[in-house]
Amino acid sequence: MTSLGFGGVLRSTPISFFGGEFTPPGDKSISQRALILAALATGTSTLSHCLVSEDSLSTANALKSCGVSIKWIGSEVQIQGVGLEGLQAPKEELNLGNSGTGFRLLAGVLAAQPFESRLTGDFSLQHRPMGRILEPLKKMGAYIESKSDKAPFTIHPASLHALEYELPIASAQVKSCLLLAGLASHQRVALRTNTPTRDHTERLMNYFELPFTSTDHHLVLSPVDSFAAKPIQIPGDFSSAAFFIAFCAGFPGMSLKVSGVGLNSLRTGLLRILHKMGASIEWGLDTASPEPIGWIRIQGQCLKGIEIPKHWVTDCIDEFPAIWLAATFAEGVTIVRGASELRVKESDRIAAMAQGLEAVGIAVECFEDGLAVTGGIVEGGVINSHGDHRIAMAFLMMGARSKNAIDVYGCDCINTSFPSFPSIARHLGLKIEEVEQ
Ligand code: S3P
Repeated sequence: MTSLGFGGVLRSTPISFFGGEFTPPGDKSISQRALILAALATGTSTLSHCLVSEDSLSTANALKSCGVSIKWIGSEVQIQGVGLEGLQAPKEELNLGNSGTGFRLLAGVLAAQPFESRLTGDFSLQHRPMGRILEPLKKMGAYIESKSDKAPFTIHPASLHALEYELPIASAQVKSCLLLAGLASHQRVALRTNTPTRDHTERLMNYFELPFTSTDHHLVLSPVDSFAAKPIQIPGDFSSAAFFIAFCAGFPGMSLKVSGVGLNSLRTGLLRILHKMGASIEWGLDTASPEPIGWIRIQGQCLKGIEIPKHWVTDCIDEFPAIWLAATFAEGVTIVRGASELRVKESDRIAAMAQGLEAVGIAVECFEDGLAVTGGIVEGGVINSHGDHRIAMAFLMMGARSKNAIDVYGCDCINTSFPSFPSIARHLGLKIEEVEQ
């Protein structure tokens, strides 16, 4: 894996040309789900274009510690599925690092096992809310010890029972945790979801021919004894591509093509937002199963600020750092409200972005549940990533169109989702260099 070195301080200096074509690395959410489901299948599954990053490796290593054989050949992964009864007690604590997806999804699987396990994560993960999975898992009969509903978890053996549950928050991680707990315990899980969220687990469950049905707001997984391994094609990560898409969309005269990228409409809300801001973007599909994969073409334009409707927030929940990047170079004010979930991501993204934008000379107004950003001239300066990969990448992109360079401290976190970010950025024209402290 790429090491960013020098304590992870990167400097981005202004450029006058940006563009070209690239394929983003594998999708982080889908790679982790594919690893987990392939581990629980019977037989060997091959994953193509799997994400090779700290988060996906944390999930793979946790599965390995539970006795699953996983072989990486670049971004191709061969997994010897052990079946629904085949996981073994790990000898050590399972450390999911920075990965909320890995932690929450594996907690569901491990809650159903006849052995004890201990799940933990890094400083950021240990401060993220876990009550949202503990409450429904305990309703299923799980026996999990934690302090103040946070990581680490000690998960004791328990026999789970069926669950009927209405999700109180829009969270794909909670939904997936519970579906996986039902799968691993051979129990029926019926979920009512009021707001649609990314459906990667559901798509993979259908693809593996599991007894899963979904109608508007209602998901049901019926008990099953086993399911067979299958090859899985993983799309390029739309959330990683988002930084380049948002940057190019507001850079008049520049053009970009993204290929092999995931186009699941529950993830691509950024395109709708950029379109409303005046962007020129088109896209098309190459493959549809288990996930839509295709291409996106962007022609840079002058964008204008907009008010983002609250019901647009979930399908671009990870893209706000990129949206605020576009808002910085747009004319007028871009406002989002109804996005308080951003406060409990890898960092408090509302506070981290507001602090960074003010530091480089951009006017912001902070709300408990959102942010207003007034487009303007970026002066440049020094930014703290707050250990959050998406904050680091947003400000490195911003440095490419500021008056003076932007130095971003704490860039090592980019390795959690997108280790090839610096090299792809350079390929598209950015000037990013390591800074010696
Ligand atoms: C994810 C779901 C979202 C997203 C996160 C990845 C997933 O989180 O923000 O980056 O893989 O299911 P929530 O489920 O907390 O909304």
